[in-house]
Amino acid sequence: MAGTIKPMLVVLIAVVSIMSVVPEGEAAIGCGTVVSYLNPCLPYVTGKGALGGCCNGIKSLYAMAKTTPDKQSVCNCLKSLAGSTSGVNLSKAAGLPSQCGLKIPYKISPSTDCSKVQ
Ligand SMILES: *[C@@H]1O[C@H](CO)[C@@H](O)[C@H](O)[C@H]1NC(C)=O
Repeated sequence: MAGTIKPMLVVLIAVVSIMSVVPEGEAAIGCGTVVSYLNPCLPYVTGKGALGGCCNGIKSLYAMAKTTPDKQSVCNCLKSLAGSTSGVNLSKAAGLPSQCGLKIPYKISPSTDCSKVQ
């Protein structure tokens, strides 16, 4: 039980805090949110495990990122994560969206130019 409740709580808290804290019209998605959604992906991108719940996290994240500031904010987080998390296999990270059946107009990589994301 505890194993399924905790991730749900994390998502719930992230969603509630976004809705309550951030004024409309500004980038709503902080890096903390991105990290909490992508935690299930870590075993996969570091080559230690299977995809698991990773795609659900990514899909929720991209469903949330509707505006350009949101997308750029998510992009910047992914970029810094890809560059700062040790042991990340960048080709696996870049291939995540297609693994999950998503079409994303940029690659997850430390060299992504997030200012071009629309
Ligand atoms: C990264 O993942 C790809 C695809 O699974 C694999 O072919 C490659 O050897 C991996 N690279 C490293 C540095 O582990």
